[in-house]
Amino acid sequence: MRAVDLIAKKRDGGTLTSAEIAWLITGYVTGDIPDYQMSAWAMAVVLRGMDDRETADLTMAMARSGDMLDLHDLVPLTVDKHSTGGVGDKTTLLLAPMVAAVGLPVAKMSGRGLGFSGGTVDKLESIPGLRTNLSAEEFRRLVREVGLVVAAQSGDLAPADKKLYALRDVTATVESIPLIAASVMSKKLAAGADCIVLDVKYGSGAFMHTLTDARTLARTMVAIGSHAGRRVSAILSSMQQPLGFAIGNALEVREAIGALRGGGPADLVELCMTLGSQLVQMAKLRPCAESARALLREALDSGAAWATFTQMIAAQGGDLAFVENPDRLPTAPAQIVLPAPRSGYVATIDGQTLGLVCNTLGGGRARKTDSIDHRVGLVLAAKVGDWVAEGAPLLSIHAANSEDAQGVAPRLLSAYIIADEPVTAPALIEEIVTVS
Ligand code: URA
Repeated sequence: MRAVDLIAKKRDGGTLTSAEIAWLITGYVTGDIPDYQMSAWAMAVVLRGMDDRETADLTMAMARSGDMLDLHDLVPLTVDKHSTGGVGDKTTLLLAPMVAAVGLPVAKMSGRGLGFSGGTVDKLESIPGLRTNLSAEEFRRLVREVGLVVAAQSGDLAPADKKLYALRDVTATVESIPLIAASVMSKKLAAGADCIVLDVKYGSGAFMHTLTDARTLARTMVAIGSHAGRRVSAILSSMQQPLGFAIGNALEVREAIGALRGGGPADLVELCMTLGSQLVQMAKLRPCAESARALLREALDSGAAWATFTQMIAAQGGDLAFVENPDRLPTAPAQIVLPAPRSGYVATIDGQTLGLVCNTLGGGRARKTDSIDHRVGLVLAAKVGDWVAEGAPLLSIHAANSEDAQGVAPRLLSAYIIADEPVTAPALIEEIVTVS
């Protein structure tokens, strides 16, 4: 086989066989197929799509490109969660300890920033000392000893996705239902969890702009997971505005710490309750959403989730002094307030623009080799539906210097629509998708 022929086949709208997909993925992982051919192929998939069989084959080829963990010799059951990507999405930092604190071991492999969306691994690495590059052996040990581990993809687990994910981030090949489905599910299947909840986001701050596309993505992933013998459900959640108030790596860690200590934004906490209650029910710890939520609420209110979070941070090498006193986390030297240009109700906050601005400030990558600035980002002062007076703060910009901060102000203003009439905030949770 030749990569160029498979690129052309997909470019022309053809369907790749299972053997062709397996060959492509193996060749990419071994280095026989270079980045430039793989990115051309990924772009062909973005433009031409893949059918369900091709998507399932791609998922399995990427999952099997490294170790497939089986954690049953350590614990009877593990749970996992994954988001399809959004702006201000620090859900894992709150949800994973909440769920682990009620006794469900969380074995999670997370991603770095992707396109305009942030990634949990980049966020966690704002905590000095914290390591996310764990070997399969360490991953297993932390599941056993702490009951919670959040790792980056090591060379051992789904290495094909690790490589392709980094390539897609910088080649404008993220927005594709089959590529996202295969990327998410290959990691989830390789990490070995029995119960998986997927947070499938839609809206301007997500890769799926419409509810219809998000539903298709959710159904595709739920079908792949259940076919592989896992219990899976998906929540369709709104990214019609950023989640919580903070956008940017260290800023989001601070917000998540606040939530674990009882002061979290209502939308973030509600999303975690909904996702967590799916896991608690799938694991058969509680029979209904109401009792599952009560259990999770208790874990949050009692401080058990916070204690579990700090154990995880310490076990992964993080310096607890920075977590216990989050003011010590990396902080941007320049902070300026963006005032509202007029009085009215906030009608629209375009998450994608805010995410891209965060990248421009240094919070994301333009090339695979770029390092990121954990300090920078944005903090909203108002959400959709809020009334703002002209000149009152709309958000604050956290930048490496005041020139950078001033430079992004016009783009930020273009992300907002302020209306005269009251506006109803969009519903956070649209639907729960389970196996059909
Ligand atoms: N999250 C992933 O892990 N992969 C994607 O492609 C998108 C979101």
